[in-house]
Amino acid sequence: MGPEGGGKPVLIFPGGMPRSLDYLRKCQREGVATVGASSLNYDVASTQYPSWIQLPYVNHPEFDAALARAIRELGIGGVYSPNPVVWNHLNAVLGILAPGVPLVNDSPIDDALAGFRAARTRARELLDHPLPVDVGQSGRAAVDEIELAAMFRHADAIPGMCDHEKACALHEIARHCVAGDVVEIGSWWGKSAFLLARLARLYGIGKLLCVDPWSNQHLVQEDATGIVDGGSAMVDAGEALAVFEMNLLPYSANHVNYLRMPSIEAAAFYRKSRCVTTPRFGSVDYEGRIALLHIDGNHAHAAVQADVAAWTGLVASGGWMVLDDYTWPFGDGPRRAGDAFLAENGHNVATAFTMGGALFIRLA
Ligand SMILES: C[S@@+](CC[C@H](N)C(=O)[O-])C[C@H]1O[C@@H](n2cnc3c(N)ncnc32)[C@H](O)[C@@H]1O
Repeated sequence: MGPEGGGKPVLIFPGGMPRSLDYLRKCQREGVATVGASSLNYDVASTQYPSWIQLPYVNHPEFDAALARAIRELGIGGVYSPNPVVWNHLNAVLGILAPGVPLVNDSPIDDALAGFRAARTRARELLDHPLPVDVGQSGRAAVDEIELAAMFRHADAIPGMCDHEKACALHEIARHCVAGDVVEIGSWWGKSAFLLARLARLYGIGKLLCVDPWSNQHLVQEDATGIVDGGSAMVDAGEALAVFEMNLLPYSANHVNYLRMPSIEAAAFYRKSRCVTTPRFGSVDYEGRIALLHIDGNHAHAAVQADVAAWTGLVASGGWMVLDDYTWPFGDGPRRAGDAFLAENGHNVATAFTMGGALFIRLA
């Protein structure tokens, strides 16, 4: 069918479920006509629909006949139901009651489970084909499929800028990491921070410290076309910190904290103090030596160079540095800073590779 309902109204039943209302808004945006329906005598959602009917409960003997009549009389072209019981019944009878009038959505159960199944598939693939990271020693045994799938699934729910390939590479280096603090420069909504926090726990690396000023002023990256800076001007850095907290709080107990300040100031703080306290995350004690440093702050060349200069001296031998967006379509700040680091410190580098756009370096 072309447009949903084939140009005819779509019946949404039960019309008051949250996903029904989401679907109603989608139809309204796309100009698809709708009729809402419910088995309740009074459903508060009814006022949101342009047209509304009452149907018997799906297990009532009159249901099938009432549905067939409504479809015929209202010229319904398709039916949407997010309720698994209703959907299953409609899937069994609709072809007989109203030939040519389809269910317009997939099974709600399959829909609800799709993200979990995809996460398991990704976990399985990672376990079956571990990334060939040449670190000259075997790492800790990988955690099992469900642990990995849980990490991928929760990370999926966090918006941000860390793709699956980079997540897999982070997993592999976490297995081959010395003990110490995990430090992230640039956390924003907390997607990579969540992955780092989880990996640090799963592989017993240490605690996570996130550094980010969460200020619009620090979002200016001077990309050549201004497209990145234009987009950044539309977001609210204060709200980003609230979103970060919402994403990390469930995993934070004595394990995650943050410094809301620019990277250079934070490096000076970290050199002086082992304890970080925030109202939301409480107090977390750090070791003061970094096992894994993720640099994903401002991407202007001078800023990345300053991050590298301020923090890399704190990385333990055998520790990792990850420079995000080494391959970046909007500028070459991370690449230039990464190349300069490799040129100056080649003697002290055990392994270096790029994956998911990031440069991964293990110190000797
Ligand atoms: C690309 S975002 C980080 C994305 C995040 N790591 C993720 O995976 O979704 C860049 C972040 O760097 C932060 N930032 C900008 N200047 C910074 C600085 N001087 N020190 C630390 N963070 C900085 C910005 O506030 C922003 O949150």
